Amino acid sequence: MEFSTTTATALHTIKTQALAVGVFTDGMLSPAADALDQASKGALRAAIKAEFDASSGSILTLHAPAGITADRVILLGLGSQESLKAASVSRAHQALAAYCVRAGVGTAVSTLCALDCADASLADLARATARLVSAATYRYDHTFSKAKPAVKLRSFSLHLSRAQAAKAKPGLEQGAAIGAGVNLARLLGDLPPNVCTPTYLGQTAKDLAKQFKTLKAEVLDQKKIEALNMGSFLSVARGSAEPPAFIVLRHTPSQASARKAAPIVLVGKGITFDAGGISLKPGPGMDEMKFDMCGAASVLGTMRTVAELDLPREVIGIVPSCENLPSGTANKPGDIVTSLSGQTIEILNTDAEGRLILCDALTYAERFKPAAVIDVATLTGACVIALGHVNSGLFTQDDALADELLAAGRQAQDPAWRLPLEDAYQDLLKSNFADMANIGGRPAGSVTAACFLSRFTSKYRWAHLDIAGTAWLEGKQKGATGRPVPLLVQYLLGQCAA
Ligand code: BES
Ligand code: MN
Ligand code: ZN
Repeated sequence: MEFSTTTATALHTIKTQALAVGVFTDGMLSPAADALDQASKGALRAAIKAEFDASSGSILTLHAPAGITADRVILLGLGSQESLKAASVSRAHQALAAYCVRAGVGTAVSTLCALDCADASLADLARATARLVSAATYRYDHTFSKAKPAVKLRSFSLHLSRAQAAKAKPGLEQGAAIGAGVNLARLLGDLPPNVCTPTYLGQTAKDLAKQFKTLKAEVLDQKKIEALNMGSFLSVARGSAEPPAFIVLRHTPSQASARKAAPIVLVGKGITFDAGGISLKPGPGMDEMKFDMCGAASVLGTMRTVAELDLPREVIGIVPSCENLPSGTANKPGDIVTSLSGQTIEILNTDAEGRLILCDALTYAERFKPAAVIDVATLTGACVIALGHVNSGLFTQDDALADELLAAGRQAQDPAWRLPLEDAYQDLLKSNFADMANIGGRPAGSVTAACFLSRFTSKYRWAHLDIAGTAWLEGKQKGATGRPVPLLVQYLLGQCAA
């Protein structure tokens, strides 16, 4: 997929298979739409009057309009002209990209990013556009007996003034790299759990390190994990015949001056299948627990983007990965394990396994003396109940870090919502037999999960993202979303500028 800018002055002479223009409700035309309407002697206004309400996300194709060189003019509805929002431009570009993929269009030009947006810069618009168009070209066909037809869309260009083009270019480049990171995260999420095992995730990290020279991968096996004393992580791993992996993927920027700041560490939950363990989950929908490694996938996807952009900041991705299955060797309710930190944990529910593997990874992260640690996990069903599928849950005691992550989420159109993390909730984790229990009961289930993690993060600035509701879609559209790669990359971009 190629992204570019074009500054041709006469829109009606542009050669492309699809030329997209914005239209507002009440028949208001964007300047580009108006120019094409004049070149075509009113073809656009006539079509709009006949059958186009221009609601946000709507789309109408005009084939071979007279007086216009492009094969098609695509009208994209933007809603009311009053205050154009980035989300509306994104919906329009999503509709355009989906159409191009469906119709087998190979080249497209959009004029939408030239419009002023109330809540986004031109670079933001360009970044979001490239990301969404890249994502629209994703097609899962790894486990079908016949390959699906290849996506034809190969070139997507933004029509802008010369001054605008200069501002848009870095955004486009970032967006393309984010799209590739998102698509990697989606693929890892979508692959079946008998393919995407801990070993497979480890191999993916090694492959990334081969592809990008700023990346170095280290995959610790069972023996090395044992030697480190990750008793909590190992107690989950030992219920499965599939060997665990502890993955460390490190980006060292090629620019020497960028290596001075302390690294930012990302930690991703990599449960490649969560049956619940001895506290077995109910059958219906259990297949979706293949997505329980989406935190890990988003960390690997983000590392891919970071490496492709050669971000001027050291970033380290850590992924503890194993399966959570019931078996004769599995951990069980009542078991007490000793974490890498030395703190003991009474396992009251083996289905609260995410925190058991993350706590050891969070302790491991201390060795990097990080500027900040952000963990990403499909951690609690309670988070889906609290926030649905719109916002990821954000937990941290650090107000400045919270603000940075929330702002990054808004800017990248990959939002998070802050939930409380106060000491008053810590009492729920009391155990009569160990330093803490691994569950706090039904009330505030996402908060007590975050409280549990917080006990392993005293040495650095830390935030936790619960992506249980945002990492994948259910039902007919079942599939991984690649979230929160856009949020994480936006945060990291901000940390480089700072
Ligand atoms: N992976 C699940 C969380 C989950 C459930 C994510 C449903 C998305 C959809 C996690 O390991 C888990 O099982 N959590 C338990 C915790 C409970 C036992 C305290 C949960 O949320 O029910
Ligand atoms: Mn579980
Ligand atoms: Zn889980």
